[in-house]
Amino acid sequence: MVIVVKVYNEVTCVYFGLGKVFGMHKKSFSKTGVKSIGGYDINAEKAAEKKSLAEKAGEEFKVFKSIEDAIDAKPTFYDVAVSTNSHYDVVDKILTRNPYASIILEKPICNLDQIDLLNKHKRHFPQIVVNEVYRSSEISKKVAEILNNHGLIPKEIICEQSKHRGNDFAQGRFIDTSLFVWGYEVPHMLSLISGIDKQYLPGIVTESVINDASVKMPNGNTEVFGKQGSGYVRYKSKEGIEVILSTSMDGQVTFPKPQLSNEKIREYLFDLDPSDPRQILSKADIPQEHISQDDPETRYRMFSFNCKDSTEVVGLCEPIRGIERFIGMVAVLKNNRIIGLEGPIDDRTMEQHLKSAVEYLTGKSKKNPGDAETSIDLVKILHEIVSNAEKPFSSKKQEAL
Ligand SMILES: NC(=O)c1ccc[n+]([C@@H]2O[C@H](COP(=O)([O-])OP(=O)(O)OC[C@H]3O[C@@H](n4cnc5c(N)ncnc54)[C@H](O)[C@@H]3O)[C@@H](O)[C@H]2O)c1
Repeated sequence: MVIVVKVYNEVTCVYFGLGKVFGMHKKSFSKTGVKSIGGYDINAEKAAEKKSLAEKAGEEFKVFKSIEDAIDAKPTFYDVAVSTNSHYDVVDKILTRNPYASIILEKPICNLDQIDLLNKHKRHFPQIVVNEVYRSSEISKKVAEILNNHGLIPKEIICEQSKHRGNDFAQGRFIDTSLFVWGYEVPHMLSLISGIDKQYLPGIVTESVINDASVKMPNGNTEVFGKQGSGYVRYKSKEGIEVILSTSMDGQVTFPKPQLSNEKIREYLFDLDPSDPRQILSKADIPQEHISQDDPETRYRMFSFNCKDSTEVVGLCEPIRGIERFIGMVAVLKNNRIIGLEGPIDDRTMEQHLKSAVEYLTGKSKKNPGDAETSIDLVKILHEIVSNAEKPFSSKKQEAL
């Protein structure tokens, strides 16, 4: 029997799609010693621009003239960050031309109508890591650790990711006409929850509700953006746990945590070293009710495991206003009072996830941090939520919250 052992003296990468995400990936890989050979973009002008930028920074970066040339460079792995519509096409071309390819693929893995096509490459799925970055969150690892160490049994999970994107809408950005308000944050929330345990993904979606967004336009008028405002999904997980996902693009905060006000957290997290530079002195608080359109910075990203004995484990993901970005924390509450805080926790989810992806693809770790099967489930779940969404959000349902 012949055993093939791959030895990686130098880990190399070739990119497909040289847009915004490419820049973040390249920077992140450079920190872990991955050599960027070059890339291919369907837009030759954009590719030339990236080459010239790299050269100005004193780096070599080859621009491939065709997708085939780029595949034939046979790096340790390919990084695919083309527009979502083209994920399947590019992956199909890579695997057909180089069946031994290793691939990091941006999320979402593909469009709903491409799942059957992608499944034809099922035997290659172990060679693909999907970049669902929240699956590598340090905050969710800490929450999982606390739940396990204390034998806490969740009965309800709430996850909220909200921000006011009104100014973006006014400029035509972030408007999703196929997945609506669900398109941006719900995939991240599902990744976060599945990163703790896949059993928390939906068994049955019982309710999904969507609202319009009313936005102040630069001319002073108010414009309504259909199904772009806020929404929530309620489902029973595979093990019967009640889960609520809530997201808002118009600043609505549905599940505030007044116990975790900014000042209390800052005092607690940094009292050992008040000069810790990760504090940014700001009077802004963790939002409790509504984030205004004039505040494009504040995000509210939290998830909470309500357990059987009135104990609640709350993850506050970055950014926490007043504290440097990429820092989060975990709080444990009993009968709504803080009984423990863990942090500050550095949570650079994209860097963490890409690092784990490279470790897996180079054989240093056996665990695929972004397996394709889960990502396909996430696409199906998201579409189920969208197709079942009711509109508008009735007052009866608001009371039920
Ligand atoms: N993981 C995350 O948190 C995260 C965040 C943002 C975006 N994304 C995903 O990353 C992907 C890219 O997003 P972006 O913001 O960089 O977009 P972008 O539009 O800035 O860049 C995409 C690039 O791909 C190129 N392209 C399109 N089709 C191609 C093809 N067939 N072959 C080669 N090049 C092609 C485009 O010309 C463009 O330069 C999207 O799928 C998006 O959903 C993921």
